[in-house]
Amino acid sequence: MKNLLKGKDVLTAQQFSKEEILQVMDVAADMEKAVRKGKNLDNMEGKILATLFFEPSTRTRLSFEAAMLRVGGQVISVASGATSSAAKGETIADSVKTVEGYADVIVIRHPQVGSAQEAADAADIPVINGGDGTGQHPTQALLDVYTITKEKGGLEGLTVCLLGDLKNGRTVHSLSHMLALFGARIVLCAPEVLKMPDYIVADLKQRGAEVLEIPDAAEAAQQSDVLYVTRVQKERFASEEDYLKVKGIYVIDMNMIRQAKKGITIMHPLPRVDEIAYEVDSYEGAAYFRQAHNGLPVRMALLSMVCGRV
Ligand code: NCD
Repeated sequence: MKNLLKGKDVLTAQQFSKEEILQVMDVAADMEKAVRKGKNLDNMEGKILATLFFEPSTRTRLSFEAAMLRVGGQVISVASGATSSAAKGETIADSVKTVEGYADVIVIRHPQVGSAQEAADAADIPVINGGDGTGQHPTQALLDVYTITKEKGGLEGLTVCLLGDLKNGRTVHSLSHMLALFGARIVLCAPEVLKMPDYIVADLKQRGAEVLEIPDAAEAAQQSDVLYVTRVQKERFASEEDYLKVKGIYVIDMNMIRQAKKGITIMHPLPRVDEIAYEVDSYEGAAYFRQAHNGLPVRMALLSMVCGRV
């Protein structure tokens, strides 16, 4: 196998070709099998991952760190901007130029759009975007594609509804590009103030994707094979008052699922606040915790690939 990601940064969803995504999926599936069988992988022995997280995170940071340990590597970490020199006013570039002397690969999460690109420009080692403000979250999109493929058998011809805060949600910004690449039909379900940015919709259409806007959640759910629910991104609002106007605008409950397309799969990048009722957790199509767990093999694959160890 020729490793298509060796030495590369992972910054956006659009940087990926179909072939590259499929290779990540294949490597991840093999690694998932190995972990299931209780095998200890050691392909990243001697390598160090630095996680630099300047925004809250549970899944992304822990699954990257667990992934590194599962492939035999080691981890160093700045758990919050407040405990690093960022609090003293250090630039991203200076932090990264320092950290690359200690590690072989960096995962960065930062509130500023373009921060991961800035880090990648400053570093000679691979930089992975773990979320740059309201920009992108490409590794989440990869694990989402992995999840949809596992749950539904593939993406082509599927209708996937992205619901909630499509304006500020970086996970849907990234995922929509990959859905377009694989020929899924995209339904956008959001209130006017949280609509998907025009430049993204234009880009999706330019790539030949079929994009429909259906602001009514029940109606969108009736047409969709997958419902990808997102949290209203409270931290991106100018004021509490603006947030309260749209908070709780969509709540997915069993009543809605009973009227939705049969067998609908419910996804969510998590954390959820109030947008999926807890009663949905026992519905067999509720895939969000399986989705979170898929972050492990996908990130094992990504780290191993960019470090040239597969
Ligand atoms: C998301 C994020 O940080 O963008 N979480 C995640 O990485 N799984 C979604 C969110 O915070 O709503």
